[in-house]
Amino acid sequence: MKLRAILYPLAGGLLFVAPTFAQKEGDAAKGKEVFEQCAVCHSADTDEKKMGPGLKGLFKKAKLVNGKAANEANIRAIINEGGNGMPPYEEMLEKKEKDDLIAYLKTL
Ligand code: HEC
Repeated sequence: MKLRAILYPLAGGLLFVAPTFAQKEGDAAKGKEVFEQCAVCHSADTDEKKMGPGLKGLFKKAKLVNGKAANEANIRAIINEGGNGMPPYEEMLEKKEKDDLIAYLKTL
């Protein structure tokens, strides 16, 4: 009887934790939908400039326009803070939407 009292909450805990792990990485397909609001200013399939720089091969660029390395932390910072004509998305996007967006940007 005692064992059950220990095992049930344990199993419940695992069920709760498992989906959290599964969602750690963003979903590129959903990120593509989020990107629709960026596409007004950014082209995803060329590196040609619209309002902002084209984002094709973003993560493979030697440097970002702000001179920093094209890594996830710096790209997240640009999305959050905006600047120089780009709106800040810190409050406009949910954390999950940003994760999805990053996953999508990595495919470009
Ligand atoms: C109103 C137009 C506009 C919108 C909307 C916009 N951006 Fe930008 N973005 C810009 C401009 C302009 C720059 C260049 C800023 C600079 O020169 O410092 C930029 C820069 C960037 C950069 C840096 C690119 C590089 O090569 O260094 C990234 C990444 C980026 N934007 C992603 C996004 C994402 C993701 C979204 C949607 C969530 C978005 N932007 C929405 C205008 C926009």
